Amino acid sequence: MEGPLPTWGILTVMERPDLANLYRQAETDRLGFWAEQANRLYWHEPFTQTLDWTQAPVARWFADGKINACFNALDRHVLAGNGERVALLFEGEPGDTKSFTYADLLTETKRAANALLALGIRSGDRVALYMPMIPETVIAILACARIGAVHSVVFGGFSADSLRTRIDDAQAKLVITSDGGYRKGKAHPLKDAVDHALSAGNCPSIENVLVVKRTGMDVAWNEKDTWWTDALSTADTEHVAEGFDAEHPLFILYTSGTTGKPKGILHTTGGYLTGVSYTHRTVFDLKPESDVYWCTADVGWITGHSYVVYGPLANGATQVIYEGTPDIPTFERWWQIIEKYKVSIFYTAPTAIRTFMKIGKEIVSGKDLSSLRILGSVGEPINPEAWLWYHEVIGNSRCEIVDTWWQTETGSIMISPIPFAFKTKPGSTQRPLPGINTSIVDEDGTPVVQTDSGSAAGYLTIDEPWPSMLRGIWGDPERFIETYWSRFPGKYLAGDGARYDRDGDIWLLGRIDDVINVSGHRLSTAEIESALVEHHWVAEAAVVGAKDEVTEQAIVAFVILRQDEIADAPDEETIGKILRTWVTEKIGAIARPRQIMVVTELPKTRSGKIMRRLLRDVAEGRPIGDVTTLADSSVMTAINDKLSAGAND
Ligand code: PRX
Repeated sequence: MEGPLPTWGILTVMERPDLANLYRQAETDRLGFWAEQANRLYWHEPFTQTLDWTQAPVARWFADGKINACFNALDRHVLAGNGERVALLFEGEPGDTKSFTYADLLTETKRAANALLALGIRSGDRVALYMPMIPETVIAILACARIGAVHSVVFGGFSADSLRTRIDDAQAKLVITSDGGYRKGKAHPLKDAVDHALSAGNCPSIENVLVVKRTGMDVAWNEKDTWWTDALSTADTEHVAEGFDAEHPLFILYTSGTTGKPKGILHTTGGYLTGVSYTHRTVFDLKPESDVYWCTADVGWITGHSYVVYGPLANGATQVIYEGTPDIPTFERWWQIIEKYKVSIFYTAPTAIRTFMKIGKEIVSGKDLSSLRILGSVGEPINPEAWLWYHEVIGNSRCEIVDTWWQTETGSIMISPIPFAFKTKPGSTQRPLPGINTSIVDEDGTPVVQTDSGSAAGYLTIDEPWPSMLRGIWGDPERFIETYWSRFPGKYLAGDGARYDRDGDIWLLGRIDDVINVSGHRLSTAEIESALVEHHWVAEAAVVGAKDEVTEQAIVAFVILRQDEIADAPDEETIGKILRTWVTEKIGAIARPRQIMVVTELPKTRSGKIMRRLLRDVAEGRPIGDVTTLADSSVMTAINDKLSAGAND
């Protein structure tokens, strides 16, 4: 291509002319660039219009084309003669293994698609999944996509209550679950929570429950239940995938926002698949014939959707999926898996790295990790110490590290270095990918000025529509506009703070709203607060994310008890324990507060807004900041005086 090469700071993209061209093409002809990425997929009917932004902020990408996400993930590779390539290398936590070629996965998925059709599921129907990390989960997701059903995966760590609200919100017709899964060395029940969610006539939209047998544990059996194997054994192995409109809904995935109610983020087919396949190929420098890829995310989160299911399979990758936790039977497990399967691309979260760092580098001693060439990080800012440890101890100082910034809403990676094109920097996500335009803006929406010493911090925005962007919040178009598009009209507000360094590289600074990040999992303070006040002891609650060495943030809750209800209540320590268990039951173990402090007042401004900044000071053991805007400044003194007691455990 003609034209000047990018001259960004320390970018060494000039050593990779192919990547230089990618950046240049995306800059000079953005839509042409995206059309080219989309055309690497198989279209049942080609598109003629790349982007329709007339109904902004709801984008329509490739709208007159027809496509099938499952066909792209499976049939296409088999038809191209790659049916014998391994798609999934499954490792169960107890050590059982199973591998599926693309041809195997296609046969199973066709069978599953026919089983769903036999249960009355049709294009556009919603199907909830509540599953462990096993091959059937991937098959169930692809079977939904194959017939145009919209999947809504609910992370297996969420409680029955959380599952129920998500099923109701999406009006799902079917739940796919398993008896249980292996986690932390034991069989952990899942169907049990589905039974609870559906009990007492709840979730009336559900007509059937499909149950995979994973652990063989005892399960109660209800009228709506069918074993997965029974449904599949009678199903035909032939199924012809039809093309759906590019904007046909592919899935809903619930995520936390600033209010108590989780948001059902909606993604559609053609744009999403374009985004995930392009970024997976580019950011991980994928060589499908030789790489073995492993992303440790659970399929209950967006990373599992984009970089376990759709991205890698659309690209014909061979990948590992592992059911359990990294410490079973010991913290050597992940490194044994990498050695065993010769993993070359590895993608995980900083929390995991920090946990390993704490245990020490002995966990990798004697392991042959020489197959690794690319290491990815996602979900939270990676601190330079963890980055360096990852680079030196896991990557033996020779692997490329890609710190990838993105969100459930963006569908695919937005900001990341590209391997072998960047001089990477511990702690910086560096640049938006080709095709993605971002800014950092101040309170008024004016882009912050980058100087020789860097820039001021500001709000991260995305300035042009991109194919894998969310198309809305399920059932709540107003919230979609208000949350993302009203603060700076025309720009997507990511909800993260960021700044540039002197080279123009981007550093993420964490959330600017009431969303907290615990071990890379996104939680809403409001959701935890509403769970707490549902308990009859609690009159008022305020939740903050306090800095944590390993999990990035930890949940600390301040509660005011109802005087009329606590006459017979136990001591504060027991109250704390009971309320923490209560939150686990209401939302799930990931939302369990590290600490609950009983207080008599909460710090509020004169307009009644809780000043979380001050509570965060308390939770992090810092001197308390400016209290002049408080309605009653003695509140903080009272809280501080109480504070000597440590965490609940
Ligand atoms: O705050 C950012 C953080 O995770 C948020 C998105 O969370 P979720 O939708 O659950 O998706 C997580 C997996 C993509 C963002 O708003 N985040 C994600 N990746 C990074 C990050 N923060 C800093 N650096 C990252 N690489």
